[in-house]
Amino acid sequence: MLCCLVMVRPSCSPGRRAADAAGVSGLLAPGFADYRRALQCWKAPWIDVPLVLSWEKAGPLSHPHLQAPVAWICNPHNPTGQLWSRASLEPLLATHGLVICDEAFLPLVPTGEQQSMIPLVEHHPNLVVIRSLTKLFGVAGLRVGYAIAQPERLKRWSGWRDPWPVNGIAAAMTEQLLVPRGRYQAWCRRVQHWTATEGAWMQRQLTAVPGLCPMPSSVNYLLVAGAGSLVPLREAMEQRHRILLRDCRSFEGLGESWLRIGLQSRRNNRRIIRALREELQRSPLA
Ligand SMILES: Cc1ncc(COP(=O)(O)O)c(C=O)c1O
Repeated sequence: MLCCLVMVRPSCSPGRRAADAAGVSGLLAPGFADYRRALQCWKAPWIDVPLVLSWEKAGPLSHPHLQAPVAWICNPHNPTGQLWSRASLEPLLATHGLVICDEAFLPLVPTGEQQSMIPLVEHHPNLVVIRSLTKLFGVAGLRVGYAIAQPERLKRWSGWRDPWPVNGIAAAMTEQLLVPRGRYQAWCRRVQHWTATEGAWMQRQLTAVPGLCPMPSSVNYLLVAGAGSLVPLREAMEQRHRILLRDCRSFEGLGESWLRIGLQSRRNNRRIIRALREELQRSPLA
């Protein structure tokens, strides 16, 4: 087997150093903030490539061009939920010195694996695919992820990364979650069914809430655009309903008029919709 797998504690992943060595990184903005934080740690340069905030379907979509030697891909994209097509990502392997593809959310997407870059690792030494158990199993505290790349690169990384990146309890739990294969696949199917049914339900419900516009999403969160500032609404949801919606002001390129809503059980999704309606009746958006 050509490719191999290294467990990483994501905050200590050696991708930063690898990216540093390979040159300037190109990152879509808005995008997951930890890539920038990690690059900053290593004083590695990057450029933000603005993402057009309008799209007609959740995907598979064509990934925008990143004019930098190192391409950072997040598939599906956080915070927009856009699913990038493998057909649009594969050409990057010929034009970029290093391609890092974060597939942390991909196993939650129905038919998402069809867009995974994992099958390309075998023939591309400049490709690294990153996955995390956090999203699929809801185990944020476990801090387990893994990188899939060719053995020479991972061997080099092993020398750079912190020793003991994953503790014994997390390693034992990882085995429980990933083995046997049949149980893992059954869990993925169950989660994907939830993403599809609750995603479509929330999309319909949010579209019917005056002043809110949910963007098409392939995954278990929806980026929502507001007709005005959504800060007072977010605060009212937290204070009066004890419901936390993701403030998007920390994302480069998003401002007060954006929120990200994570899918819940149907019962809790109903609660969110009821609370949103109540608050927007009380204080309609400008
Ligand atoms: C796109 C993306 N990748 C990776 C991670 C990191 O996951 P973790 O460190 O919890 O494994 C996150 C966490 O929010 C994320 O949103």
